[in-house]
Amino acid sequence: MNATVAANESKATSATIDRIELTQPDDWHLHLRDGEHLPAVLPFTVRQFARAIVMPNLRPPVTTTAMAVAYRERILAALPAGSRFDPLMTLYLTDRTTAAEIEAAVASGVVKAVKYYPAGATTNSDSGVTHVDRTRPALEAMERLGLPLLVHGEVTDQSVDLFDRELAFIERTLAPLVRDMPGLRVVMEHITTRDAVAFVESCGPNVAATLTPHHLLMNRNAIFVGGIRPHYYCLPVLKREVHRQALMDAAVSGNPKFFLGTDSAPHARHTKEADCGCAGCFNAHAALELYAEAFDRADALHRFEAFASFHGPDYYRLPRNTGKVVLVRERWDAPAEYPYGGDTLVPLRAGEPLQWRMLPAA
Ligand code: DOR
Ligand code: ZN
Repeated sequence: MNATVAANESKATSATIDRIELTQPDDWHLHLRDGEHLPAVLPFTVRQFARAIVMPNLRPPVTTTAMAVAYRERILAALPAGSRFDPLMTLYLTDRTTAAEIEAAVASGVVKAVKYYPAGATTNSDSGVTHVDRTRPALEAMERLGLPLLVHGEVTDQSVDLFDRELAFIERTLAPLVRDMPGLRVVMEHITTRDAVAFVESCGPNVAATLTPHHLLMNRNAIFVGGIRPHYYCLPVLKREVHRQALMDAAVSGNPKFFLGTDSAPHARHTKEADCGCAGCFNAHAALELYAEAFDRADALHRFEAFASFHGPDYYRLPRNTGKVVLVRERWDAPAEYPYGGDTLVPLRAGEPLQWRMLPAA
């Protein structure tokens, strides 16, 4: 059977669908890196997405509007010839971010959000926030101006079990913050637990969340299949199956609080295959295909378009895209590796089959 349906039509059994047409999506959480690494990964994202929220955890981090504007120029300069892509920039929140900096960020029109990394939580987070109270002036300006706060929701307290750090962050930091600043717009990034789903659902419309393809498709066993698998190590780390199921339920629920954010996070192969390997999964080479697979497995392709293409722009108060992309049910193997500046990087599913393929733009 060769049924063709638009992804937003009423539910058809996913197994009978082998072509999906959807409004062009955006990636609401992406790491593009810089220097020689930027042109190595940018084309993968540009092929699929019209816009992306670009993470600021460079070295040094993007802490000012001037730095965000300059980084955006470097991204635009690295675009493949003839391509169109709108990088939506973020500032890296520190204990010293001022209200004036937030005002400048909003006035620039270039900065669309501010990223909260608890200091030491993940890659290049050393300059992050040591205590939420220190960020009050910045947060108050953001609440006043409607600039979203994007949260890496994990405590750094080493006495808390690694697998419980998201819940501890919700209890200790996020729930009190949302209670005290109800006007603050907050996106809990790359959520990994049923606790985070329940928390986001319990909040008002100011609080939303992004979901990655790897957290929708895999549980923590993937890190240990037949040996240790560094390319499945990211932060927050993959969790138990019961959590993956809760994330999947949220993704296919139709609730506009949940939307696409790949957290594609490239690292050179040798920095992941190391004594102390870096956290991050590179998925930009097949992001939409991986999400389609997750929705297909859940028999919910009819919910894919809203998750991928509508909920994000609606939350960010930006227009939805007008272009279309098409995915077909077609097996292909992800390459074993890609060039990454002078290094190589190993993509998600390296050397293994994918079930969907995005067609090149007509
Ligand atoms: O796994 C991760 N990688 N989690 C993050 O929060 C950061 C990211 C990166 O920049 O590599
Ligand atoms: Zn990230």
